[in-house]
Amino acid sequence: MWRGAASDHVIDTIAPGRGTDLVDIGAGMGPATVAAARRGAQVTAVDPMPYMRRILSLRRLVQRNRQAITVVAGTAEQLPIADATADVVVGVNTMHHWQDLDAAAAEIHRVLRPGGRIMLVDEDFDDPDHGRNRADGGRRHRRHRHRMTPVGAEEMADALSKAGLVATDAVTTSAAPGVPIKQATARKADV
Ligand SMILES: C[S@@+](CC[C@H](N)C(=O)[O-])C[C@H]1O[C@@H](n2cnc3c(N)ncnc32)[C@H](O)[C@@H]1O
Repeated sequence: MWRGAASDHVIDTIAPGRGTDLVDIGAGMGPATVAAARRGAQVTAVDPMPYMRRILSLRRLVQRNRQAITVVAGTAEQLPIADATADVVVGVNTMHHWQDLDAAAAEIHRVLRPGGRIMLVDEDFDDPDHGRNRADGGRRHRRHRHRMTPVGAEEMADALSKAGLVATDAVTTSAAPGVPIKQATARKADV
């Protein structure tokens, strides 16, 4: 997706300033990456799928601030990012694909600077009020459901806490009408 309510919600909430080093895990076609770069963040977009990286790399070329975007191969469980170099880590609609939530949380802890922030948001596609389910009675969701391992907000926050991060919230809320989400935020303690 080029743009999405969940990504807009994450970047509006995080509100990265100019020069913020932000990692977008499972960046896909880059809705959060592009929104963050437009605010002046330096974004590293991580995705394991060559196809997604190719699309985002092409999209990057047409961005005015393309110098602010780097697209790299990697997974949440093995981030290609040096220790303590990120101010912010975000993940949008990708946690239901991760193989190992605890390993990913440990990686997020490793790459964040002290005081750094993390925000993870997955849309709740199981919610009958999700716009997609309302539109087609849940047919599309049932077709793709086998490829997902839905993760709850508490589960995400617990994994972040276990990795040593300070969980700041775990809520189910909405990013926009018809876009119910599961959201966890945390920060890395200052030294
Ligand atoms: C539904 S797309 C979401 C993309 C984008 N964040 C968005 O909101 O449109 C899920 C993305 O997660 C990526 N992904 C799958 N497994 C992953 C993993 N283990 N670590 C990081 N990203 C992963 C996929 O390649 C895909 O681009």
